[in-house]
Amino acid sequence: MDAESLEKSIRDDIGKADSFETLEQARIKYLGRKGLVTSLLKNIKDAPPDEKPKLGAVSNRLKKLAEELIEERLGALRGSRVGSRFYKPPFDATLPAHDGNVGHRHVLSQVLRRLKDIFFGMGYSLASGPHVELEYYNFHALNFPDEHPSRDVQDTFYVTDDILLRTHTSPVQVRYMEEHQPPLKIIAAGRVFRNESVDPSHAAEFHQIEGLYVDTDVSLADLKKDVEVFIQQLFGAKTRIRFRPSFFPFTEPSAEVDMSCFACQGKGCSICGNAGWIEVMGAGMVHPNVFRAVGYDPEKYSGFAFGLGVDRVAMIKYGIDDIRLFLGNDLRFLRQF
Ligand code: FA5
Repeated sequence: MDAESLEKSIRDDIGKADSFETLEQARIKYLGRKGLVTSLLKNIKDAPPDEKPKLGAVSNRLKKLAEELIEERLGALRGSRVGSRFYKPPFDATLPAHDGNVGHRHVLSQVLRRLKDIFFGMGYSLASGPHVELEYYNFHALNFPDEHPSRDVQDTFYVTDDILLRTHTSPVQVRYMEEHQPPLKIIAAGRVFRNESVDPSHAAEFHQIEGLYVDTDVSLADLKKDVEVFIQQLFGAKTRIRFRPSFFPFTEPSAEVDMSCFACQGKGCSICGNAGWIEVMGAGMVHPNVFRAVGYDPEKYSGFAFGLGVDRVAMIKYGIDDIRLFLGNDLRFLRQF
């Protein structure tokens, strides 16, 4: 066999070896005691003197080539063995332990879960609605007048003239009441969208949770009691609440609910801006026009509703000073919770 054919056959045989056994056979074929390359080297001494240097150079080059190719192929076979589904790495008790970092729930999901758990414990069940909502449910059925500023494109993301990204979770109230008769006690939770200029306390995409209770003879006292129970479960039994008159088109009367500052118990500190109170939610008695929109008789039924920002509650609870951190996806922030 001339040198050229021998080189080709070395490359072929070693390149094709797909197991340690076939590779070993190829090694024996070329580099074994009676191997083709070994014989070539042995024959040098019998060659005519003027051919010896050339034959020596060729034989050594082929020997080196075969050795290198075998080494390379061995590496590839070892690698594929590690990757194979039958491969079990040897157990090494001296390796450092796995750090156990398998990820965890986002802080907002944790807070949302906690809020839901509290409400479930109070007899509320969960209702849901779409993020992309009809203007009818987001505004009209909730008694928003046509000229209300939040209907403006400046404040609301419109998809078409009558479809928008919901600006609050309240449309879920209407959808649920259309489908069910009182008594009902539900919460709705999830993402809402407003065309806001973003700053440390305002996001354009945030989360709300909202409660609705409708039955005969529901009063403001019932609302105050549920709000108080909820706040005390979340922030501690000593927390007090107060109602301040406010306005929402879909509740009458309406109120902003404040809670006594959990950090200073109402004395005034940096967390509550020295006010002693922290604003937590909007609330009120369901407006008769909302009942009319869903076909309930406002003379027969009464109800209350309340809604709060989940991001803001998380900020209060954990002392977070910038709402933009929630959606920033920065692990240094997220790993703290
Ligand atoms: C509402 O959205 C009413 N639907 C709440 C309600 C429900 C009132 C039922 C009465 C009865 P408001 O626009 O105030 O109300 O928003 C409610 C909460 O969402 C606020 O208290 C605040 O915590 C949060 N929020 C409002 N705008 C933003 C924003 N840009 N970024 C983060 N949180 C916000």
